[in-house]
Amino acid sequence: MYEQELAATAKAMVAPGKGILAADESYSTANKRFQKLGIPTTAEMRQAYREMLFTTPGIGEFFSGVILFDETIRQSTRDGRPFTKVLQDAGIIPGIKLDAGAKPLAKAPGELVTEGLDGLRDRIAEYYKMGARFAKWRAVITIGDGIPSHRCIDTNAHALARYAALCQEGGLTPIVEPEVLMDGNHTLERSYAVHHDVLKAVFDALYVQGVEPDQMVLKPSMVISGIDCPQQASIEEVAQWTVKCLRERVPAAVPGCAFLSGGQSDELATAHLNAMNRLFKDELPWALTFSYGRALQQAAMQTWRGQDATVAAAQKELYHRAKLNSAASLGQYQPDMEKVAA
Ligand code: 13P
Repeated sequence: MYEQELAATAKAMVAPGKGILAADESYSTANKRFQKLGIPTTAEMRQAYREMLFTTPGIGEFFSGVILFDETIRQSTRDGRPFTKVLQDAGIIPGIKLDAGAKPLAKAPGELVTEGLDGLRDRIAEYYKMGARFAKWRAVITIGDGIPSHRCIDTNAHALARYAALCQEGGLTPIVEPEVLMDGNHTLERSYAVHHDVLKAVFDALYVQGVEPDQMVLKPSMVISGIDCPQQASIEEVAQWTVKCLRERVPAAVPGCAFLSGGQSDELATAHLNAMNRLFKDELPWALTFSYGRALQQAAMQTWRGQDATVAAAQKELYHRAKLNSAASLGQYQPDMEKVAA
């Protein structure tokens, strides 16, 4: 009954020049990032941080959606405006992280499976009422000696597909996020081979569960050399191999792929996205854009550091990064834009 709404939301999420801000860090992830900068790990500081992000003037030009965490979707600005309303007023669609995190997969050392399916139908109904119109579930695939196993890939693909089907049933457009980690010393070619297997398993599982491809957004990792690989692929190679893999595995009916940044530097995440669009944009059936967490927030969080006095400067950082990624989603980013003040 939600088909048209789901498809319209998916299209809006990847509209030209727009991408998604992933601000759905769990308690432990948000606290870890705060601790590194000496910011107190309290609910008040997490609220203040998200208020700084969401009230940044003008971000609706570049963000189609923001992914929220359960704590955040229930919070408001200090002057009492619910965050969902702040985003909607800026023309931004609120989304919600639905997974409960990646846990060790039984009898599979070093591998993870994402949990959170129990009670999901009821949680979806509650978030829909609160204003969420899309959702996210992140599966994590690790590359290492003899891994990923088929069991790990298939189990995660199955969970992603069951989550996505429940989302479509309940009116939330699912972001399907199979992240292949860049940790390790694997080559670009190995990353490509693993991405290929993972995306095949994910789209097979989505088909089995009756998930409509035009009513979802894929959130892939980029095909990239492992961070400890002595030979790091160039920006153009990453663009070529990532696009080759997506072309081989992602149905044309999917409206867009919104990449995660996965631990890349801010500049590199932007440059990779830009190269893909600069080289291939006109030949691709889907949009390629960003759904970054760290690569959008790092600079802003470092400038903010928990101080009221730094809010405006931190917002400038976020605005600037968002603008550069918007340019990259159109293939119009130039490295010298990094220097221009926001
Ligand atoms: P990063 O861009 O920091 O990888 O985060 C994106 C995200 O939403 C991970 O689930």
